[in-house]
Amino acid sequence: MSKYESEISRRRTFAIISHPDAGKTTLTEKFLLYGGAIAQAGVVKGKKNSRAATSDWMEIEKQRGISVTSSVMQFQYEGFCINILDTPGHQDFSEDTYRTLMAADSAVMVIDAAKGVEAQTRKLFKVCAMRDIPIFTFINKMDREARDSFELLEELEKELGIETYPVNWPIGCGKDFKGVYDRDSRKIIHFTSNGGAKAATATEVELGDPNLDDLITPQLHQQLTDEIELLDGAAAEFDLDRVRHGKLSPVFFGSALTNFGVEPFLEHFLRMTTAPLPRTAGDTLIDSLDDNFSAFVFKIQANMNKAHRDRIAFMRIVSGKFEADKEVYHVQGGKKIRLSRPQQLMAAEREIIEEAYAGDIIGVFDPGIFSIGDTLCAPGKKFKFDPIPTFAPEHFRRVRSLDTMKRKQFLKGMEQIAQEGAIQIFKTPYSGMEEVIVGVVGTLQFDVLEYRLKNEYNVDLYMEGLPYEYLRWIETEDGEPVKEEDLILGDGVKLVEDYKGNQLLLFATQWAINWTDERNKQLTLLEFGGGWQR
Ligand code: G4P
Repeated sequence: MSKYESEISRRRTFAIISHPDAGKTTLTEKFLLYGGAIAQAGVVKGKKNSRAATSDWMEIEKQRGISVTSSVMQFQYEGFCINILDTPGHQDFSEDTYRTLMAADSAVMVIDAAKGVEAQTRKLFKVCAMRDIPIFTFINKMDREARDSFELLEELEKELGIETYPVNWPIGCGKDFKGVYDRDSRKIIHFTSNGGAKAATATEVELGDPNLDDLITPQLHQQLTDEIELLDGAAAEFDLDRVRHGKLSPVFFGSALTNFGVEPFLEHFLRMTTAPLPRTAGDTLIDSLDDNFSAFVFKIQANMNKAHRDRIAFMRIVSGKFEADKEVYHVQGGKKIRLSRPQQLMAAEREIIEEAYAGDIIGVFDPGIFSIGDTLCAPGKKFKFDPIPTFAPEHFRRVRSLDTMKRKQFLKGMEQIAQEGAIQIFKTPYSGMEEVIVGVVGTLQFDVLEYRLKNEYNVDLYMEGLPYEYLRWIETEDGEPVKEEDLILGDGVKLVEDYKGNQLLLFATQWAINWTDERNKQLTLLEFGGGWQR
């Protein structure tokens, strides 16, 4: 295997998802700890009051203690080069999560053992299921009182509709959490706590070891024997192919805080996941080992560094090798460019890089030329990766600058924030007055918009709620724009345009969608649109 091939095949790229507080940040931190990327716990995330997680770039995140935007980190572990994509922990930002998942090859879902499937777990899972992405489940906080393990699995299967395969099984919980039983090797991994600051000490013991009673108590030994029997009899067979198609989720138990079960998880996970997966560009599948560089932009983030007012475009390298000094072709922009200040995140540090390989995520300085979904490839190639779908917003507001003199800054700010994919904006060329309508998937995005316009563009917003809850992109048979007078539109329906000139309809009710659909047979109404993708 050439160096090039081995570099690509040792890469693993996954996203981590959870309901807030299930332990996503803690688990991420422990991965970094095992990978030697950080020397001690507490670097990624400090105490709540001085929350300093790497992903908490924006003030609003700090104020609310939530992670609004997602971040990316890379670390090395046992020869693997691992890229972790963190995802926002709030349902209002599920579109951002979806885009992040486009850049990942698998997802790790963290579940709180006392709470099981929570509201946000359901939402995020739905987003994962849209892509059939392999999902690995880590049932966390076993060092606390946990729900019955069988019950947790049943809930996962029933609520999320995915089969589960417990790869290991917990021995006790709360202060009696002793370790996990590895079903494959049929060995017990017994952990000794050291306060969670360093890697926990793990001892492997055979199931038939005569000292087992002393180690885990006779009661837990008996309970484990009974549970293994039940498991072996009842649980689904392990099938790697089904795992890789997102149909079967391998389940692991542990405690991120005390480091119990984190390393066994990482080891199984890395072996079950694949090297960077291909991505489609129309009829072609672009393989990671393809000779030529290619990548797509899945996230744009402004003002990560307030002092510099910079804007970073994050891209997933799909194929080949990226070299900092080489020119690449930006397909949607129709230009050859040099990617400026390419960087990767290592724990809390950003570092400038010279090269990166398929599977890696790099951030580049964006002078305002990139949109979500854009393709970059080797000069001479011109394919476009399939667009990243835009979610239909569910909340709409009419928005203007309080100070009419600031219209220019207002429009610039709105356009830039929309280009990042943080909001969607629409104009109203069909009604007498030119208005700007903002659409979002979750209302917290309005708060972010208001905050950012004030802080980054010095514009105070006036927002007015609109009664629409649904949006459909319009497709016509001949591809030509529709004329408003040719449409039969009832009450509570409005024809608008996005900033790329695509026509859309806003609806107040589902009923109005059906009504309009029936009376305008020349239209196809689409739930997912091109939005900012070209
Ligand atoms: P999130 O990113 O999914 O939102 O969760 P995060 O890691 O921030 O964890 C949420 C809380 O749960 C934190 O406590 C964290 O210490 C705790 N936690 C995470 N994993 C475990 C675990 O395995 N066992 C136990 N017992 N607790 C765990 P906090 O008090 O809210 O914050 P902090 O004061 O520890 O920073």
